[in-house]
This record gives sequence, structure tokens and C-alpha cells, in this order.
Amino acid sequence: MKVLLVGGGGREHALAWALAGSGLLGKLWCAPGNAGIAELAECVPIGAEDVPALVAFAKDKAVDLVVVGPEAPLTLGLADACAAAGIRCFGPSAAAARLEGSKAFTREVTSAAGVPGAEWAQFTDPAAARDYVRRKGTPIVVKADGLAAGKGVVVAGTAAEAEAAISEIMEDRVHGAAGASVLIEECLFGQEVSFFALCDGTMALPMAAAQDHKRVGEGDLGPNTGGMGAYSPPPAFTPEIEAEVMARIIRPTLAEMARRGTPFRGVLFAGLMLTDSGPRLIEFNVRFGDPECQVLMLRLQSDLLAALLAACDGELERFALRWSPEAALVVVMAARGYPGAYAKGTRIEGVEAAAAVPGAHVFHAGTTRGPDGALLAAGGRVLGIAATGPTLRAAHDAAYDAVDQLKWPDGFCRRDIGWRAL
Ligand code: AMP
Ligand code: GLY
Repeated sequence: MKVLLVGGGGREHALAWALAGSGLLGKLWCAPGNAGIAELAECVPIGAEDVPALVAFAKDKAVDLVVVGPEAPLTLGLADACAAAGIRCFGPSAAAARLEGSKAFTREVTSAAGVPGAEWAQFTDPAAARDYVRRKGTPIVVKADGLAAGKGVVVAGTAAEAEAAISEIMEDRVHGAAGASVLIEECLFGQEVSFFALCDGTMALPMAAAQDHKRVGEGDLGPNTGGMGAYSPPPAFTPEIEAEVMARIIRPTLAEMARRGTPFRGVLFAGLMLTDSGPRLIEFNVRFGDPECQVLMLRLQSDLLAALLAACDGELERFALRWSPEAALVVVMAARGYPGAYAKGTRIEGVEAAAAVPGAHVFHAGTTRGPDGALLAAGGRVLGIAATGPTLRAAHDAAYDAVDQLKWPDGFCRRDIGWRAL
């Protein structure tokens, strides 16, 4: 089977690694890939958002399946374009990808489906938004409606903070058109968990949960990032909670999307808050999380390619997934300065030594090779140093042993990944 994987981050390296372990795989391409993916797949210099070029490539190579990592190509209609060209694609249509592309759309769908979430209201008028904040009180959450690279959310402790966020998003348009409207939400309290379900349009199969660390600094302080580390399974996410999430959040959403004529096929990523009154939905994403995917793939024992095909073909009913009972943990190595400005092209050594630590596994994110073959940083999040172990503590210790083998003075990581569970 010929597969084209779209994307070039740590998530896609983990997907490439799992796909490469499938007995069904014949040939793997990745667009655009990175230095780590290049060891498993043939990387092609096509941007992950260049939908026409991706479809033309897939047609030319008679690709059997396109697997889409990031959300942007999905919101741009890559799955629709593949369908029109008769190519199977793992990932939702643009209409179904609105579950990530528009927070207001998600709230409409989930309210109609009776999904437990935060109380919310949408505003296109900043004065009305400020008025609502004054009436509701704080803490309160202000969000740009559209895609803002994970940066469009402000959890405001005071009315002044909330009003400043409204001005920045709606009047200064710091996130561009994503700030044409804002959502103002009730602030939920509890542990945050990322949960993943494989969906074929009508049926959903639970995958696993992971806990991400979104803030750049230790103790969960500082600005938000794409994610600085993750582990799976999170002890707080019990089988009872999983059953409740499937019954009250995932399946009702899937049914409502099908009822609207926009069935969801792909992986549905529910960002959850485990509150005192049960799990509540914060947001959906329409793809695997990064770095959550890295720990999920380390724990997945079933054939990933077979599972993705079953989701594409509406055959999940006959499918079961097996997971390792072991724990997995990943520490993200980022370029100094991230999530602000950072240097590119700095030299990284010691990756082989890190990978040689028992239980450890190195995933590349923003990496490339220099003319002399040296490994160079090419992004903000650069490497994911992961490990598995019989306990979370063992996985944690092995991952940090591997981190300590790296020689990259221009990089940094959080030293406290997994702290909530350890
Ligand atoms: P989002 O982009 O919707 O995932 O929001 C980014 C982060 O803001 C989440 O990971 C949460 O930590 C926080 N957040 C979003 N919505 C809420 C809410 N209603 N209550 C509390 N925290 C929230
Ligand atoms: N790690 C969070 C995300 O992928 O959105």
C-alpha cells in the first residue's frame, strides 16, 4: 500500500514511525517531512498547505491513502480534494474540520448535541462583549473565534484583563480575521486531558488519553506553546471517565455532525477539563495532538495503517485497538526563545546517544540536515525525547536520561513533564 503523509513535525514523525511498522505498508512519502522522517519515508518538498500540489502528487504516484497530520490542510479542503480525485484520505472534510476551525461552530454543534461544556456567548460587537464580562464577573475566558495558532485564548483573572483581551482580539486584530468575533466562556477548573477517538462518520472507537503541558515554563507558568511535553495514560483519566466522555461528548457530537450532513471521519481530539462535576469539553481538534501523538504511537500495539483504513472505509465497527499498559512520556526540546523569536540553524549533537538510552525514542520536529549532514534546528519545537517504561516514573527517568545525552546549547526543555501524576 502506498501512503502519503502530510506534515513535518513531531506528530508526523510519530505517525511515520507507526506507519512504517505496518505490514500493509509498501511505500511511504511525506510532504514536507523533516530530518527524522527522512529516515523512514521519502520526503517531498511540497508544503503541507499546498492542496493542489499534494493531490497532484498523490494522483501521479497512485497513492492509496493520504494521512493528514495538521489541521490547516483539512480546513483548506484537502480531504474534499482527495475525495474528488478518488483518493482515500484520513482526515475530515473542510465542513467537518470546522469543529476545530471555528469555536462558535463547535459550541453550536455541542449545544445542540447536549455535550457538557462551558457556558458561552458569542459577540461581534466589542462593547457588548465588555458589557457581558462586567455582568458575569471573573475569572472568565475570552477566545478569538477563528484559528489563531493556539494563541487566541485568554483566561482572564480580572475584568481589566478580559477587557484588554477583547480590545486586542477585536479592535487591534492581533490574530487577524480570527478576531472578527469572540467567544466568552465560563472558566472551568480541574485537570486538563487530551482524549482521542477514531471516527468513521457514524462510529467512534476510543483511542487513549494523554496530558499535555501547554505553558513554556516549569510549574505551568509563562506563555502558551504548542505543547512542551506529554504523557500517557494520565492516571486521573479512569475507564469510567472514558466511558462517560464517549457517551456524553464523542458519540453525541458524531451523531449531530452526521445529522447535519457533515459526518466526521478522522481522529477527533477532545480537550477536556476533568471538573468536580465530571468531564467537560473545552474544545475539539480534528487531528492528533502534538506532542500527544508521540506518546500515543509509542503505546499503540495495533497496526496504525489498518486502523486508519478502517476509519476511512466506515469499518470501525469490526475493529479493536490494543494499547500497551506501559507508560510513555515525551519531553519537547525547543529552540531558546520559543514561543517568541528564536534562532534557526543551530547545531544539535548527541541524538544517537539519546536514542540509545534503554526505552528511549527520539522524534524529530523542526529539524533539517546541513550540507555536511549535521543535524540543525529548523523550528521552535525541535525534538521530542520520549521513553516508555513499566511506570510513569520509569518512563520519565529514561526520557530525561536521554535528554541529558543531547548536546544542544541553543535548546531548552521543561524539567517537570509529568509532575501532576508523579
Ligand atoms: P483552547 O485553544 O480552546 O484549547 O484554549 C487554550 C487553553 O485555554 C486550554 O488548554 C485551557 O487551558 C484554557 N481554556 C480554554 N477554555 C477554557 C475554559 N472555558 N475554562 C478554563 N480554561 C480554559
Ligand atoms: N498539544 C496540543 C495540540 O496539539 O493542539
